[in-house]
Amino acid sequence: MNKKVYIGMSADLIHPGHLNIIREGKKLGEVTVGLLTDKAIASYKRLPYLTYDQRKIIIENIKGVSNVVPQETLDYVPNLEKLKPNYVVHGDDWKTGIQKSTRENVINALKKWGGELIEVEYTQGISSTILNKSLKEIGTTPEIRMKRLKRLLDVKPLVRLMEAHNGLTGLIVENFQITDDKLSKEFDGMWLSSLTDSTAKGKPDIEAVDLTARMHTLNDIAEVTTKPIVYDGDTGGIPEHFVFTVKTLERLGVSAVIIEDKVGLKKNSLFGTEVEQTQDSIENFCHKISAGKKAQITNDFMIIGRIESLILKKGIEDAVKRAEAYINAGADGILIHSKEKSPAEILEFCGRYKKFTRKVPLYVVPSTYNTIYEKDLIEAGVNVVIYANQLLRSAYPAMIETAKLILENERSFEADGRMLPVKEILRLIPGGM
Ligand code: SPV
Ligand code: MG
Repeated sequence: MNKKVYIGMSADLIHPGHLNIIREGKKLGEVTVGLLTDKAIASYKRLPYLTYDQRKIIIENIKGVSNVVPQETLDYVPNLEKLKPNYVVHGDDWKTGIQKSTRENVINALKKWGGELIEVEYTQGISSTILNKSLKEIGTTPEIRMKRLKRLLDVKPLVRLMEAHNGLTGLIVENFQITDDKLSKEFDGMWLSSLTDSTAKGKPDIEAVDLTARMHTLNDIAEVTTKPIVYDGDTGGIPEHFVFTVKTLERLGVSAVIIEDKVGLKKNSLFGTEVEQTQDSIENFCHKISAGKKAQITNDFMIIGRIESLILKKGIEDAVKRAEAYINAGADGILIHSKEKSPAEILEFCGRYKKFTRKVPLYVVPSTYNTIYEKDLIEAGVNVVIYANQLLRSAYPAMIETAKLILENERSFEADGRMLPVKEILRLIPGGM
């Protein structure tokens, strides 16, 4: 009888290394590819470029592959126990790092029915890491970028957004990652904060930086990144103007706009009731949401309703009532904001939200209640966390300290250790040489 061979793969960026493994597998028997689902891949690294269905079509048509089955977790064991293959074939590059324990589990599972792990020599000179880098250099299209947020919402327990206010911070959000022995972690997309965009331009966060100026920032960021963008639309202005904003953002490939339920001169929410701020009526705000929804052209662009009831001390009941109304008006998401030090009121809202029969993704901005961990937000049912201002807030004190050292010493030598070396700043952005 033909022996059973199992090969697990992501197969997002197919290269000769994959084909080599399939070829080696085919020599041993009938090959079943366990294709990692988007969720399985996103659980330990970035979202794949191609969807599961697209990847499946490709793999099914590769010579030597007999079956393709979904592998729902990074862990092979559930599929191995079902299929009981004689062989698992894998490249020999997983003995250390993220996949080390996955490998050990495979060996132990195979032992139970006398199966064997066959490791094929890693194909040098090509890897998905290299291809991934080249793809980022090529860039993306507005359509692909826009759709990415919905895909992330589908597969990630929590989507992590970080503010960006220029090309350089966009690049940090795009490229910076850390890897511990289990996971590679990075931000999933960018928040175009009105606070940090205004502050970086030396203006207050009162909608004084108009759409045209904000579009310059958006363009600078979009030019050098591929990750999805969520735009802070402030109040959205009057509905007759908001519909144009929606069309502009959609055309540029922004995934979502968040508008807050305030009217008149908008001030930053973190002032709370220290400054005069007026909340919009439920009826008017619902009208603005549905006008925006009617104006968009694609099915992928999202309009998120941001509730300021807790900021303005109107209470949980008001927040809950508004969430229901905004969802009924067509909102694709709800942002519940708070400026308390403790996450208690946010968690109370989340508890109420969990019981809604009609739910849309829930966004939070833990700037003040910053002791809460992402895992607690997931447990509370939050879908998107926005780190709304931290890159700018950390850059400013660093710049002030350097300015101070130069004035005090009347030269820059004393500040040198705090700065990126000249050699590195020259090479920070590729293509300068
Ligand atoms: C922003 O980042 O501009 C926001 C969040 O809208 S907050 O500053 O908390 O209002
Ligand atoms: Mg804002």
